Amino acid sequence: MDFLRAGVRRHTFARIQCRQLHLLQNKAYVEGKWISAGSGNVFKVENPADDSLIAKVPDMGAADAKKAIDAAAEAFKSWKNTTPKERSNILRCWYEIVEANSKDLAAIVTAESGKPLSESYGELAYGNSFLDWFADCARHVKGEMILSPWPNKQIMVTRQPVGVVSVITPWNFPFAMITRKVGALLAAGCTCVVKPSEDTPLTALAAIQLAEQAGVPKGVINVITSSRKNVAEVGKVLCEDPHVRLISFTGSTVVGKVLSAHAAKGVKRVGLELGGNAPFIVFPSADIGRALDHAMLAKFRNNGQACVGANRFLIHEDVYDQFVNGFKEHIQKKCKLGPGTHEGVTCGPLINLEQAKKVSSFVEDAVNKGARTLVGGRFATDLGNKFFESTLIDNVKPGMKVYHDEVFGPVASVIKVKSEEEALEIANSTKHGLAAYVFTKDLGQAFRMSRDLEFGMVAINDGILSTAEAPFGGIKESGIGREGSMHGVEEYTEIKYTLMSGLEK
Ligand code: SIN
Repeated sequence: MDFLRAGVRRHTFARIQCRQLHLLQNKAYVEGKWISAGSGNVFKVENPADDSLIAKVPDMGAADAKKAIDAAAEAFKSWKNTTPKERSNILRCWYEIVEANSKDLAAIVTAESGKPLSESYGELAYGNSFLDWFADCARHVKGEMILSPWPNKQIMVTRQPVGVVSVITPWNFPFAMITRKVGALLAAGCTCVVKPSEDTPLTALAAIQLAEQAGVPKGVINVITSSRKNVAEVGKVLCEDPHVRLISFTGSTVVGKVLSAHAAKGVKRVGLELGGNAPFIVFPSADIGRALDHAMLAKFRNNGQACVGANRFLIHEDVYDQFVNGFKEHIQKKCKLGPGTHEGVTCGPLINLEQAKKVSSFVEDAVNKGARTLVGGRFATDLGNKFFESTLIDNVKPGMKVYHDEVFGPVASVIKVKSEEEALEIANSTKHGLAAYVFTKDLGQAFRMSRDLEFGMVAINDGILSTAEAPFGGIKESGIGREGSMHGVEEYTEIKYTLMSGLEK
């Protein structure tokens, strides 16, 4: 009840304050206090559109990470005993405070990630929907009674929070990836240490200020910030400290494997949401107009920097020319490159130079091996060093990087296919298995593709499938576990079996 009252009181205060609050924060948050790194070191957070300095934040190391984990472990002792309703009320309160502050938050998301303001608003609404959803879920975690084989015994199964969770989040959805993980784990009764990407720590710090106002008690959420230099040592502590029971990570498959190996030493659970290499398949029966509109969303949302982003367009030969010509027109007409704060911009800069070089090298590799550039293909150097043109290439063949690997940028690669079997074979010929998109009006084909595509998520006739209500996650090297939906909360629980024996009179 105290948590509930504190939440409501702070929420009322927040409503009054939020219009004057500047959510930019340059300290980390541990045990309910805004603190510097033990070393006093800081690192710069820059705007990818123009490299201007936004803020300097603590450059924390292993000792700071340990302190944050200890705080989360201490807070777990009381947070795990709060009632689901108390946790639900705090989550709802956080949701409402975010709603009231979404303008400020969106400005921070755009400043540090480069995405257009309209997309930042979209991310705020999407990310906040997880807080709303998990506020509901908190009250629906269930156990079960199983019929026992013995006359005088009962089998009781309950779900309990796993404990302290290390949360490591990426830069591409700096708000939504926090709420998708933290909302779920709070609902389950866990506490956490969040380590946001070094490219986008400010959104995390802003979001947690609002969680604090919503009445999340001290130590329940801790946020530590580290530069790339310290990330390896901090990641190791976040995975290996004995208090940590689960590591939840969204990011590259390469890093996911490293974290998973650390976690294995302590037999810890992992939730991994890793790279994708999504096929976008268009069959002759499809509504091509619809496929084109959704191709734009699946490819150019967040400038292609999404693990569910369409990577390989597998287009049936009967509709190939129609689709490719239409795609070219759509890109030329609809993609506007520029700083995310400018009116009408749909694609911002890539997040950093490393990413920009990777995207450009993928296109160069494809073109050198015979691909044809139909739109874009170069840096827009007049805008800066991280703006890459929205690009369409076809004649894409095995052996090219774009064919096998995730480009994670605004490059659409088109491959002509002759049959359903060929489309399926190419689609599945990857070590990844996150999202796949299929456009068809043939019902049998839709069901076959849903069944046979080796991906955790399949969208039929749609280019966007993420929502708080659905289980998000991949198979193969795209990850382990699910986020969102009720499954997303259950990931943060342990199943306990209690045998109730001696029931005879
Ligand atoms: C991601 O790309 O990491 C997440 C995208 C989404 O939630 O749709």
